[in-house]
Amino acid sequence: MSAEGVRETWSTRIGFILAAVGSAVGLGNIWRFPFQVGQEGGAAFMIMYLAFVVLIGFPAMLVEFVVGRKTGLNTVGAIREFAGGAWKYLGGLFVFIGFVILSYYSVVGGWVMRYIVGSATGGYVGPPAADGTPQAAQYFGQIAVGWDALFFHALFMLVVIAIVALGVQRGIELGVKIMVPAIIAIFAVLAVYAFTLSGAAEAYSYYLSPDLGYLLENWQSIVPAAAGQGFFTLSLGMGVMITYASYLSEDENLAIDGGSIVVFNTGISILTGLIVFPILFSADVDPGDPGAGAIFVSVAEALGGIPFGELVGVLFFGTVAIAALSSAISLIEVVVSYAIDEFGVDRLTATAIVGAAIFVLGAPVTYDTVMVDLYDILAAKILLLSGGILLIVLVAWLHAGEALEELEKACVFS
Ligand code: PHE
Ligand code: NA
Repeated sequence: MSAEGVRETWSTRIGFILAAVGSAVGLGNIWRFPFQVGQEGGAAFMIMYLAFVVLIGFPAMLVEFVVGRKTGLNTVGAIREFAGGAWKYLGGLFVFIGFVILSYYSVVGGWVMRYIVGSATGGYVGPPAADGTPQAAQYFGQIAVGWDALFFHALFMLVVIAIVALGVQRGIELGVKIMVPAIIAIFAVLAVYAFTLSGAAEAYSYYLSPDLGYLLENWQSIVPAAAGQGFFTLSLGMGVMITYASYLSEDENLAIDGGSIVVFNTGISILTGLIVFPILFSADVDPGDPGAGAIFVSVAEALGGIPFGELVGVLFFGTVAIAALSSAISLIEVVVSYAIDEFGVDRLTATAIVGAAIFVLGAPVTYDTVMVDLYDILAAKILLLSGGILLIVLVAWLHAGEALEELEKACVFS
């Protein structure tokens, strides 16, 4: 219960769906997805990823919805009510994962904000250094660490805190009603633009024609990458969808909601590929470069070599920033709702304290970009996967009957 004793709810069903789409669509689709595709062999990765999203991601989302709506509680309270014994610690794990993910997510979100400025001023465009390092790489090296990165990490967290402090309806719901349509509209325009570029055909075939031989040879690395990306992109395995579904009233059709969210999120990922890969191929930039920074360097390098690069850069990074913010608010909300429900703190205090703690946890990430890769592997391939799998075991296996009953409430097929 909040300090006033009344728990908030979404004002409309579409508000809930947009909030969940806003959470799902984020740096996972735009920053993480292209570098996973690039590292894991292009279209070979795409098949596993799509299979994973449909066969495991969608049911896992319903599992979270069921727990959230049935209990109407934050993720810790919800899981404690759902199952006793040692299971109650799973909710604590979720809150912990929320801290870890947002701490580096915000640093990357800060880079994105910095790149809006960089695009407008042409900061990453220019001749290479004496030793041949491209300007785009030098620029990234300067802004991704140190005071610059710390400042933009703080700025990103301040915006997140400001939105979430306003509450479920006046902050999160209002925010996503503006942000999600903006993301879709601008990305559609950018994809049309990318289609006109010289490298488009080559990019589409790299990205969309699967090489089964490659998949069979490399499945040991492709499968965990696709699984981790599947959970990450759908915001699963740490209670975001539990928390968001806990703000629902009874009369929702969870299966249809979940299906729309998965379709939207996958659509945006594919759309991102249709923007990013033609831009890279048109500027002869290799999409296979590994690592968290590669996509920033390669997109920036490519933007310097295509028509209207500055404008496209501002639009692109602006949209990415919006997408990152709409995901970040869901990450912090997991922790904030826990603090409000369990400790009776008011929302403003909870958001400010949690936000400040996350800023501190993320600060070391601005010391060296390799920290982003470390936090990211820990978060996506270890924490989210374990959290997601444990929750599926708990709900879909140990409590299948209750879960199905809850799912069928107000469903068209019941
Ligand atoms: N789904 C978000 C993205 O793709 C990231 C995220 C992961 C958000 C886990 C919440 C929980 O960017
Ligand atoms: Na996503």
